[in-house]
Amino acid sequence: MAEETRKRKADHIRICLDQKAQAKEATSGFEDVHLVHRALPEVDRKSIDLSTKVFGHKFAAPILVGAMTGGTPEATEINAAIAEAVETLGLGMGVGSQRAAIEDKKLEATFAVARKKAPNAFIIANIGGVQLVHGYGVREIKRAIDMIDADAVAIHLNALQEAVQPEGQTNFKGVLAKIAEVARVLDKPVIVKETGAGISAENARELEAAGVEGIDVAAVGGTSFAAVEYYRAKENGTQRFLGEAFWDWGIPSAVSLVEVSQTVKLPVIASGGLRGGCDVAEALALGACLASVSHPVLQTAVRGAKETEKLLSCLIAELRNAMFLVGAQTIYDLAEVPVVITGKTAEWLRTRGFNVEGYARRGARQRGH
Ligand SMILES: Cc1cc2nc3c(=O)[nH]c(=O)nc-3n(C[C@H](O)[C@H](O)[C@H](O)COP(=O)(O)O)c2cc1C
Repeated sequence: MAEETRKRKADHIRICLDQKAQAKEATSGFEDVHLVHRALPEVDRKSIDLSTKVFGHKFAAPILVGAMTGGTPEATEINAAIAEAVETLGLGMGVGSQRAAIEDKKLEATFAVARKKAPNAFIIANIGGVQLVHGYGVREIKRAIDMIDADAVAIHLNALQEAVQPEGQTNFKGVLAKIAEVARVLDKPVIVKETGAGISAENARELEAAGVEGIDVAAVGGTSFAAVEYYRAKENGTQRFLGEAFWDWGIPSAVSLVEVSQTVKLPVIASGGLRGGCDVAEALALGACLASVSHPVLQTAVRGAKETEKLLSCLIAELRNAMFLVGAQTIYDLAEVPVVITGKTAEWLRTRGFNVEGYARRGARQRGH
């Protein structure tokens, strides 16, 4: 079993590096999100403060590297590179699902390397929600946390992936109640994340009521796990068709972010197809506390910590620039700047009953309207 989990994880890394396992026709929706330029920003770019406090932790900038890997020698290198970069830059990271190491203690070091290389960064443990209805409980989650001395744990929801993979666990009955049980007992923040298909307002409300402390929308627009499974299943009839048919399934990232942040009072993490600092700025303007990036970092992490640091530094520089151009002195100011949502994203949100115009009218009083 541990061997099978390990092999699957190694396949995921290989496929994400060698194939195009990103959304095909679907987009994140961030192409419909526009920050309103200010010709008179009235801030000094170099004095802009990017720091923020979320889950009681101070981040130098509101950026995380999303959960990806562990369990193999290559994963050790990847986690080490990411950890070194986020430690240097004062950011945070998630490790990939720790199931392999819970099944086989020998694999613990492939995850623990993250804390070794990043003694101060915010590190998030990771376990699959569906495992909670297949024998896992508080004990296993505590082990995952202790393994990497984590600051929080992410319980990931991956119904799409399980539905298209041959060995998938497709009985999700009771997952919410188990999440509530875990959230009640644990003394570390429980974050619930998707894995590329997004979270709806309805599910966000249920998760808030279950006592989770954060939601990472991990929605459509970037890495597609249906695509990953399509490549894994290439020679295997039905699964291949399922992977292809569901390639772009889910809620676009900008939509999911607005739905969740207008519905719950929890910290919301934006992710899924965020590819630049402008995406990050737009996500924060729409109510995210942090933004998380996975696939682009995987591509640099296999080349080492320096390359990873370079990529993340570019994201930070772009974020700072976007803040300058909308006159935001701090991360908190970004939540007050006017944002215009157009096209398909606006249409989706209006049809679902969400307020789109409110973002555009921000600052109207200052403008004298
Ligand atoms: C190679 C790879 C492995 C992943 N493994 C996990 C995982 O074990 N647990 C998890 O919660 N998410 C996992 N994810 C999903 C990411 O955390 C993220 O939600 C998703 O990739 C969307 O972000 P992106 O478009 O920036 O890649 C993985 C993503 C990639 C690319």
